[in-house]
Amino acid sequence: MGEFSAEEKEAMKAEAGIAACNFVKDGMKIGIGTGSTVKYTILELGRRIREDGLEISGIPTSEVTEKLSIEQGIPLINWNECSGLDLVIDGADEFDSNLHLIKGGGGALLREKIVAESSAGMVVVADASKQVEVLGTFPLPIEVNPYGWEQTQRRIQAICSGPVVRRGPDYLTDNGNPILDAHFGPVISNPVEMEAQLRSIAGVVEVGLFTNTADVVVLAAPNGCEMIRKENARL
Ligand code: 5RP
Repeated sequence: MGEFSAEEKEAMKAEAGIAACNFVKDGMKIGIGTGSTVKYTILELGRRIREDGLEISGIPTSEVTEKLSIEQGIPLINWNECSGLDLVIDGADEFDSNLHLIKGGGGALLREKIVAESSAGMVVVADASKQVEVLGTFPLPIEVNPYGWEQTQRRIQAICSGPVVRRGPDYLTDNGNPILDAHFGPVISNPVEMEAQLRSIAGVVEVGLFTNTADVVVLAAPNGCEMIRKENARL
């Protein structure tokens, strides 16, 4: 998105984040994603709760999102009182034409995937810079167990032609795990297979490939929002 100013980028994020709220109806239980685009979704849901009396409840995908949701007055629920969600709204770092995603730039991929797999539909909010032909330019975030993470890194390295780099020596996710960013480059042409292959490595907790999960991308561009729907979208 080099061609856009910081203000234009922020305006696009706001547009997508707010437009996604059209999918939210009274009575819904929603998954609340993480990131700088979903932030606008959370602010808009808070506004609708306060001004329009919208009645929803939600499960956040990160501690940052939990804090902002509470500040915005969104009633939160726990997994001990909820076995499924109507909808999740979340961001993405990349998406391809099949709406397969790379996620986890913000480090919340594990909770995001638990929430996405427990939702009856997934809306992704993104700006034009996230749309790619082949996934992998964005380094793929992989959450790993702290035990023997160096060996897990070597095993991932064996299938990744670019560097596999630990995200900061002290960086830990909300779940207390390190993240390895795998620099594949734009070569992940079969993300379903790659997700399965990486998940089969002991020590890998979760992979930032979200395949066959998203139904709709609300894509913000300078001249407005576009909805990209997957064939057989649930929404
Ligand atoms: C966090 C994520 C985010 O949804 C993703 O990084 C996109 O964030 P942003 O909207 O700030 O670009 O996966 O783990």
